[in-house]
Amino acid sequence: MTTEPIAIFDSGVGGLTVAREVHRALPGEEMVYLGDTARVPYGPKSPRTVRRFAGECVEFLLHFRPKLVIIACNTASSVAMDYLAERVDVPLVGVIEPGAAAAVAATANRRVGVIGTKATVRSGSYELAIKKKADDVETYSNACPLFVPMVEEGRAGGPVVEVVAREYLEPLIGKGIDTLILGCTHYPVLKPVIQEVCGPDVNLVDSAEVVAAKVAEVLAAEGALADVPGTEPRFFVTDVVDDFVEVGRYIWPDMPGTVERVELGVV
Ligand code: DGL
Repeated sequence: MTTEPIAIFDSGVGGLTVAREVHRALPGEEMVYLGDTARVPYGPKSPRTVRRFAGECVEFLLHFRPKLVIIACNTASSVAMDYLAERVDVPLVGVIEPGAAAAVAATANRRVGVIGTKATVRSGSYELAIKKKADDVETYSNACPLFVPMVEEGRAGGPVVEVVAREYLEPLIGKGIDTLILGCTHYPVLKPVIQEVCGPDVNLVDSAEVVAAKVAEVLAAEGALADVPGTEPRFFVTDVVDDFVEVGRYIWPDMPGTVERVELGVV
């Protein structure tokens, strides 16, 4: 049994969707989480800037000597995985590959939709990962930049969210997709609305759930699973703690553990 923590990095609070699923799947694991709330959102930023930010965040998490680092942020996973992999010698789990694998497994008509931030959609990361696994699958993508601020404002449903969701999703539904990847940390919160707009026949792939399953698989394969009763996660943010806790409650109502503010580069 190994008690080094699992580290999770996200641009902010949205990665709690991933942390929640990891904690549910592996409640006896130590977990440290860093949300770069001072610099969120990453979605509209350039790959170069996201790589720099991601590098600094992962460097902070490495001080905890984690056994594995999860890049929970789809934007960072899309543009910074190779950059990080070259610099870090701890196993890294991003969200793109597990999400793509789950979508390929779920689609019957070989038409998959992808929604994410502008940077994720521009990078073509999901398309590439899907093509590598199954080149008969067609992928259709749409950036949904208004979803992140809506979730951060505590809006998970209601007329405004529905109108926005229809505008973003109708072009994809028009392509006849039977599977939709929720390619952003915040989107699992909007699942009920997205499912309603897409209809019951469209499979929604929640990257948070598939990543938790992937982490369990990687650790089991390495004999590195831990089971420490009563383990509480530690959360770190680069800006105001109370804001993280407030928005975090929409995502993970009974979030356990402690939240501390850190200045990156000063540990
Ligand atoms: N965490 C980001 C992602 O999953 C969404 C928020 C942001 O733009 O930073 O892409």
